[in-house]
Amino acid sequence: MKVLLIGSGGREHALFWKLSQSPQLTELKVLPGNGGFPAESRVHDVEWRDFAALRRYVSEQHFDLVVVGPEDPLVAGITDQLQDICPVFGPDQGAARLEGSKDYSKEFMRKYNIPSADWQTFTDFDQAWAYLQSLPAPYVIKTDGLAAGKGVAVAPDLESAEKALRERMLDGKFGAAGQRVIIEEFMPGEEASVFALCDGQRALPFMASQDHKRAFDNDEGPNTGGMGAYLPVPFMTPALMQKVQTEVLDRALAGMQAEGHPYRGLLYAGLMVEGESVRVVEFNIRFGDPETQALMTMVDDDLLDLLYKSATGDLGSINKIHHKPGAAIVVVLAADGYPGSYRREIPLKNLDTSSGDIIPFHAGTRHTPDGLVSNGGRVLGLGLQGSSLTAVRTQMYTEIEHFCVDGLFYRTDIGAKGV
Ligand code: AMP
Ligand code: GLY
Repeated sequence: MKVLLIGSGGREHALFWKLSQSPQLTELKVLPGNGGFPAESRVHDVEWRDFAALRRYVSEQHFDLVVVGPEDPLVAGITDQLQDICPVFGPDQGAARLEGSKDYSKEFMRKYNIPSADWQTFTDFDQAWAYLQSLPAPYVIKTDGLAAGKGVAVAPDLESAEKALRERMLDGKFGAAGQRVIIEEFMPGEEASVFALCDGQRALPFMASQDHKRAFDNDEGPNTGGMGAYLPVPFMTPALMQKVQTEVLDRALAGMQAEGHPYRGLLYAGLMVEGESVRVVEFNIRFGDPETQALMTMVDDDLLDLLYKSATGDLGSINKIHHKPGAAIVVVLAADGYPGSYRREIPLKNLDTSSGDIIPFHAGTRHTPDGLVSNGGRVLGLGLQGSSLTAVRTQMYTEIEHFCVDGLFYRTDIGAKGV
């Protein structure tokens, strides 16, 4: 099978790594990729946003499958644009609203009885501010549209809540995405990420993982795209996973069918767990990053087979996704300053992927005549699979300095909660 992967982050590098192991693969291209991908696999002369050119390229090259990594192309309708010429792994534009609009997503959850937090949507600052003042602290304020993971504020008091509201609704900090604002009930608990492969009818979950969203140790500092992840997550028991299946995944799949957009591709349920209760924080329409970098090292099936069957509506013959025993971790090396304005073009060490067990997945790197440099806030994700979470944490934090250079930082407590 000849496959085109779209995207340029650590998630895509991990998908590329796992897809490359498939016996069914004949050729794998990435558009556009980053400094971690083999040069000959990278497609530079087409841009995904130019749908006409992309259609021509996909049809001329006779791809058998297009795998879409990030949310932006899906929200822009890339699946609708290509699916008559090639199967596409990823939902259509109608279903992509589950991530593209938080307001749509919340209405969907209410309509199909998927447990989540109460909320109200506002377009008027004064009404939003009056509503906020009627609520107990802490306050959860979200922009409606895509905001690269930075649209959500969890404010401990009214003063910071007002500031968050003002930035979004009056100061235009998030552009058009900020004009509609959602104010949500605060849900206490522990977060977990469940990714499910969907074929329109069925949702098959991978093992749950846990992201670390805050920039610094002990969950301090600002929210980021994710600073590390691990699996398995001890509190995600088989009983809880069954609840996620029936109360979240099955209802979402049935709901999307009823809405006329049967869900194909990856459905990401971001969950808040408190004791036996599970509620959805958000749906995403693609694999999570960095969780996927740890997850891929644990998957014990042919990923290409799974993604192809999901894209073609054919998961019926598969009962479950198999995982290796043990545990996996990913620790992100980020540029100093991230998630604010961060250091650029940091010279990186020569990273030989074949040495040792740790896999350096590239998130933001590029080659220059002088060598590999950073090209983004999250630079590398170091993935490691092993016999237990304690074992992979110990090995990771013993060997991590081999990969870290001046100008990068990382959290030292990834996975500590899972031990
Ligand atoms: P989201 O982009 O919706 O996933 O929100 C980003 C992060 O904000 C989540 O991962 C949670 O840590 C936090 N968050 C969002 N909504 C809530 C909520 N209703 N209650 C508590 N924390 C939340
Ligand atoms: N790790 C969070 C996300 O992918 O949205």
